[in-house]
Amino acid sequence: MSLFKKEKKVRCHLEQNSYDIVIGSSIIQNAGQIIAKIARNDTVLIMTNQKIGAVYLPLISGSLKRQGIKAIRHLVPDGEKAKSEKQLFRLMKVLIENRFERSSMIIALGGGVIGDLAGFAASIFMRGIDFVNVPTTLLAQVDSAIGGKTGINLPEGKNLVGSFYQPKVVIADSATLSTLPEKELINGMAEVIKYGMLFDHLFFEYVEKNIDAIFDLDLEVIERIVTKCVQYKTKVVERDEKESGLRAVLNLGHTFGHALETVGQYKKITHGMAVALGMQAAGRLANKLEMFDGESLERLIGVIDKAHLPTSIVPYNLDKAALLGAMYGDKKVKDKKIRLILPVEIGSVVIRDDIKPALIKEAFTF
Ligand SMILES: NC(=O)c1ccc[n+]([C@@H]2O[C@H](COP(=O)([O-])OP(=O)(O)OC[C@H]3O[C@@H](n4cnc5c(N)ncnc54)[C@H](O)[C@@H]3O)[C@@H](O)[C@H]2O)c1
Ligand SMILES: [Zn+2]
Repeated sequence: MSLFKKEKKVRCHLEQNSYDIVIGSSIIQNAGQIIAKIARNDTVLIMTNQKIGAVYLPLISGSLKRQGIKAIRHLVPDGEKAKSEKQLFRLMKVLIENRFERSSMIIALGGGVIGDLAGFAASIFMRGIDFVNVPTTLLAQVDSAIGGKTGINLPEGKNLVGSFYQPKVVIADSATLSTLPEKELINGMAEVIKYGMLFDHLFFEYVEKNIDAIFDLDLEVIERIVTKCVQYKTKVVERDEKESGLRAVLNLGHTFGHALETVGQYKKITHGMAVALGMQAAGRLANKLEMFDGESLERLIGVIDKAHLPTSIVPYNLDKAALLGAMYGDKKVKDKKIRLILPVEIGSVVIRDDIKPALIKEAFTF
């Protein structure tokens, strides 16, 4: 039986531009069939990098070719630096040279970096051309590929220029995670744990029980996890496409986390590590406020530990006053009040903006 038949589809229903997220193992080989249904042109551009392209580009290009679609490959450098003005305009020139038009399509093949850059490029080239996302990291599959946030970095800061622009379809192939470095799998796990904390104690328990299977790359387990996370992110996005309210809950662990990333100068602490530490800070603070019981806090710390994510800030030797300062500088601060997402139990959170700075600072003690 073809693996392709086992694909799952989650629909993101929006007022305009609803789309499917197709999830499965080894479905990239058939991406062409999915894309051919929506492509309005017989030439598309695939943006990827050398590392990812070497493995997966032939699979997608081949499947497109079988559908009579020619793929122009466009490589960008690996890592965060690809989300730059330079790469954006380099791509614009390539699109013009290849006579791309309003009806053309860009396909992102890669992690959050490539998805953000390609999505932003698609949103502004000729005021918007079709965009397809093929996420190849756990983080991109459970988070960045869904919801339509795109953007690039400026020397002054991350994601300062961007747009909300929804893809036409997302194709999440869990088999692509088999080549992902373990540290990137760990990074994505912080977001996976976040969904359990936010919405679903049963899902949290499933992650707790299956953590070894995830790291052993049991694709069936990974597929189930990706599907659940996609369902939750989609639900939030459907209710709050432009991040005016509800979508803020997705920032659980992120307000503390951004402070850790900033003060750690994005070197000592990866995003996933920061989110994991941030969730623990939120959990510890909620526990101190007697909103969140000690046993649940221990489970949160336990699953983070099992996912090879850090459970203490001490080794990073960061200044607490600087961390608090960074939180007040965070763009999600409204009227100088820090808006925190705090757990009340596993699977449920509240938004609070009345927590005293001294208590917030104290939350960094672990
Ligand atoms: N748009 C959003 O809503 C949103 C949400 C969260 C994060 N982001 C953005 O996402 C970016 C981070 O994304 P990321 O964590 O996926 O990092 P990434 O895109 O840099 O990928 C991580 C590393 O893994 C490599 N890689 C990717 N897929 C691979 C595969 N299948 N096999 C082998 N190697 C592979 C990449 O080349 C890279 O070196 C950040 O720029 C962040 O701002 C965006
Ligand atoms: Zn995140």
